[in-house]
Amino acid sequence: MCGIVGYTGFQDAYEVVINGLRRLEYRGYDSAGIVLDGKEDHLFQVAKTKGKVDDLVAISGNLVGKANVGMGHTRWATHGVPSDRNSHPHLSNNGKIALVHNGIIENYDTIKIMLTEKGFTFQSETDTEILVNLIQYFMDTNPETDFPEAVRFALNEVYGAYAITVMHDDYPGLLVVARLGSPLAIGLGNKEFFIASDASPFVEFTKEAVYLEEGHMATISLENGVDIRNIQDNLKIVPAVQELKMSLEQIEKGGYEHFMLKEIFEQPKSIHDTLRGRLLVDEGIIKMAGIWDHLERINQAQKITIIACGTSWHAGLIGEYLIEEFARIPVEVEYASEFRYRNPIITEKDVVIAISQSGETADTMAAIKMAKEKGAFIYGICNVVDSSIARVTDAGSYTHAGPEIGVASTKAFTAQLTILSLIALKLGKHNGHLSSQEFMKLITELDALPKKIEEVLEQTHEITKEIAKQFVDAQNFLYLGRGYNFPAALEGALKLKEISYIHAEGYPAAEMKHGPIALIDENMPIVIIAPKQGHYDKIVSNVQEIKARKGKVIAVVNQGDTQVAQMADYVIEFPETSECFSPIVASVPLQLLAYYIAVYRGANVDQPRNLAKSVTVE
Ligand code: F6R
Repeated sequence: MCGIVGYTGFQDAYEVVINGLRRLEYRGYDSAGIVLDGKEDHLFQVAKTKGKVDDLVAISGNLVGKANVGMGHTRWATHGVPSDRNSHPHLSNNGKIALVHNGIIENYDTIKIMLTEKGFTFQSETDTEILVNLIQYFMDTNPETDFPEAVRFALNEVYGAYAITVMHDDYPGLLVVARLGSPLAIGLGNKEFFIASDASPFVEFTKEAVYLEEGHMATISLENGVDIRNIQDNLKIVPAVQELKMSLEQIEKGGYEHFMLKEIFEQPKSIHDTLRGRLLVDEGIIKMAGIWDHLERINQAQKITIIACGTSWHAGLIGEYLIEEFARIPVEVEYASEFRYRNPIITEKDVVIAISQSGETADTMAAIKMAKEKGAFIYGICNVVDSSIARVTDAGSYTHAGPEIGVASTKAFTAQLTILSLIALKLGKHNGHLSSQEFMKLITELDALPKKIEEVLEQTHEITKEIAKQFVDAQNFLYLGRGYNFPAALEGALKLKEISYIHAEGYPAAEMKHGPIALIDENMPIVIIAPKQGHYDKIVSNVQEIKARKGKVIAVVNQGDTQVAQMADYVIEFPETSECFSPIVASVPLQLLAYYIAVYRGANVDQPRNLAKSVTVE
């Protein structure tokens, strides 16, 4: 939700900021803007526009080589429609302070009334413009108040969520940043500093970074370095410098047309990396540092509640099947956005598993806080190392999927399923519900998954492309699956709708006759996931029911399937695996199908409309 980049150093700030914004565009792409320190005359140079970073570049070429200090923003609109006026940076009434903001200032209207009474005027509908003027107000009313102090005073008056970067015309070379609820990293270079919503904009310049903590702000300048304070009481904080593991290669497209396609093809590696060092088949063990110290606590949980949003929630549903089947611990799966606003029964005997690729999702974060207050033990499954969620949980495991940049989640999803499989098997083995023999069989299968994903990619890439061409003009899709593959059907439908804008619904196959069957005619494509294990014969009947109503069946079946394949209009085959792992393999062709349908429809696959990669607002 909005990307922020800042720079002070010796390089061309325009280039650094624009390149950084391109890397953060996955966070929001409604509008973009840049402000540079005007060097001698110290007058800000500002360019901003509705649209993408390319649109910003088209109107701001004259700023190349003009400054060594600057900041920029790529927006996902919250307050105010995407427009030139609502784009960031926002300037204070006196034109001396510029601010970029990611988040929401919830009490903006009260402050706006106060400032309006004092004579301030506003050009935009944003909450951000209120904050920048509040900083001016504190400087105006007390000439003793310096710029960083005024930022601090203003932040103590607002509530909501923010990551901000602020510049002042009278303080050349100085950047003030702060965070509460939205991420912000400071890159420590050699005679240069970088600021960004994540480390990707500066990964080629430095491997050292400080992730600003909740409620902290920093004043950054070449002269005085990075001075971190607590926003509330101005206490000095010693920065914790971290070494970045991310490489430039990981965040580039590497010859693929889109990040999404690259990430789909990275799945053999991402699953392998997620299993590495954890699954030791020869020794017959699962070794997970995150869970080891807490096995008793989790095994004795009265119940496990999985909280997540979107794709991560779908992973959670499969997690429920896995944990209940192998560890026999009751599991509930909740949308974090619902959980946080009801009054769920959670006690200190409960364990909550929070799943989040970004580790920044606001609803998941709020749900964790609530569960923590009720005394539950919180286990996190995150992809982004050191993300906010990873830091607030009591324990956890990272999915080592690497940076996921395409807005539609692919490799993070299968990596989440991999971690959930490890957890379920580990718990089941430990508490005795899973026999050694069964455990060995399952871990051997789990270990074979990267190879099977490689196979499925190779064998289904062309066929999914061909099938996709037939459905470019479809207006609706149904996705059906049973058991473990019901959530896979939900996920397949989500992938299609979010990137192609075709309406798609996922259903448990057996539920079809309780409503959706009414939709079926010769124009309705139905993707049906039907591996041999589980309830194959039931699925065969479901396909017969669809064919009797002339629906177009795209069957996702195991290699060598004859029964369903014979009835289907299109067949996608995937290698056989244990039933519980089949969604990991079957999801891959579903991702490819959604991808190619969207590509053939001319959609912007990596940046679907109205979406953003990490949803840091409610
Ligand atoms: C869909 C998608 C979203 C996210 C959801 C949760 O492709 O990416 O539905 O899964 O916004 O995000 P995280 O996992 O970052 O908490």
